Amino acid sequence: MIQVSDLTKTFRDKSRGLRAVVDHISFEVRDGEIFGLLGPNGAGKTTTLRMLATLLKATSGRAMVGGHEVTADPAAVRRMIGFLSGDMGLYHRLTPREVLKVFGRLNGLRDEFLRTRIDEVVEMLQMRDFADTKVDQLSTGMRQRAALARTLLHDPPVLILDEPTSGLDVPTARVIEEFILQARRSGKCILYSTHVMEEAEFLCDRIAVINQGRIRITGTMSELKAATGRERLREIFLDLLDDQPEKAAAP
Ligand SMILES: Nc1ncnc2c1ncn2[C@@H]1O[C@H](COP(=O)(O)OP(=O)(O)O)[C@@H](O)[C@H]1O
Ligand SMILES: [Mg+2]
Repeated sequence: MIQVSDLTKTFRDKSRGLRAVVDHISFEVRDGEIFGLLGPNGAGKTTTLRMLATLLKATSGRAMVGGHEVTADPAAVRRMIGFLSGDMGLYHRLTPREVLKVFGRLNGLRDEFLRTRIDEVVEMLQMRDFADTKVDQLSTGMRQRAALARTLLHDPPVLILDEPTSGLDVPTARVIEEFILQARRSGKCILYSTHVMEEAEFLCDRIAVINQGRIRITGTMSELKAATGRERLREIFLDLLDDQPEKAAAP
């Protein structure tokens, strides 16, 4: 459902000149699979996901989502994906339910579909208690769930989630993890980024470790263990980062 080959993004950097922040990466995510892009801050995760979500143009390489090439047919790709990233705006004066209604209409969803669909996503993300409270009165975790609900309204077959649990407390992170597992059971194709190893290990069917724009290794947890001779993901991760001439810079 997602096929990425040799995808590259270069930025011009004042101090370092032209720099590939995503450097010829390739991977595939199947339907019914949770694929984790695991890497430290500045590794290139957000840049990768933004290219797949058609928000950023690749310098070179190819990315297909549901059979559509992202630069050739961005509108078709956008219909197929739900994209969640940290900088998702919600209207603070509205309630989550109102936000969902506004976005649904903007995206051409019909009112009668929207009414039942909003109830569904509110249930799915356990938002009943705060669906009618203004966004500016909600906690970070509640807002994150509302933002996720927004990306799910059109029931997309592909989910692209950029560090969806980052900064959340354990119970809220758990709601989102449960949702992701449920989405897998219903056959969705899920690409998910994180810098938290334990989370990748718990959630992902396969993991690609990315650092300095390059994928260092891809595989199931047991494949990663076998390839590196390490038992713990933390050690695998640190070994792979140690391969580098320089440490990844914080963003
Ligand atoms: N618009 C931009 N211009 C220049 N450099 C950028 C831009 N966006 C991101 N970068 C750089 O690209 C690298 C990867 O960033 P990012 O994809 O956000 O990493 P991650 O999400 O893994 O933390 C970082 O070093 C960041 O500073
Ligand atoms: Mg990021």
